[in-house]
Amino acid sequence: MKNTLIVTCLIFLAGCTPIKVLAPPVDELFIAEANLTEEETNQHRQGREIYLNFCTECHRARQVDNITSAKWKKHVPKMLKKAELYPEEIIPLKAYLKTAGRINQQLIEKRAE
Ligand code: HEC
Repeated sequence: MKNTLIVTCLIFLAGCTPIKVLAPPVDELFIAEANLTEEETNQHRQGREIYLNFCTECHRARQVDNITSAKWKKHVPKMLKKAELYPEEIIPLKAYLKTAGRINQQLIEKRAE
């Protein structure tokens, strides 16, 4: 009974990871942490929109830092095709995913402070 409860809670929690953890917004903290220029900021904001709009049609948004380099090679090219993105959408999407993946753990820690 106790185990069932714990498992239920874990499933619940996994399904409720807040969007700011899955795909951090390009806010002041993000910009400072990644040291983005104004142009890069706009590009990253566009990339995040594309991610949340087109990469969540078939499954929930993957937490950006869970897209490991192995998954980048194995899944991301396939996903870009599945999502039927234009090259001009792929560039900002990749920029956002790479930066966000790299700094997400720092962002999570800093937001918890
Ligand atoms: C048409 C449906 C569809 C769309 C759109 C889609 N995916 Fe997927 N995705 C899947 C399926 C199905 C899998 C399961 C395994 C596979 O096919 O590789 C998957 C698996 C993945 C995985 C690897 C497994 C995991 O659980 O981490 C990643 C990463 C991923 N998708 C990211 C993305 C990204 C980024 C986009 C947007 C560019 C995207 N997906 C758009 C259907 C989709």
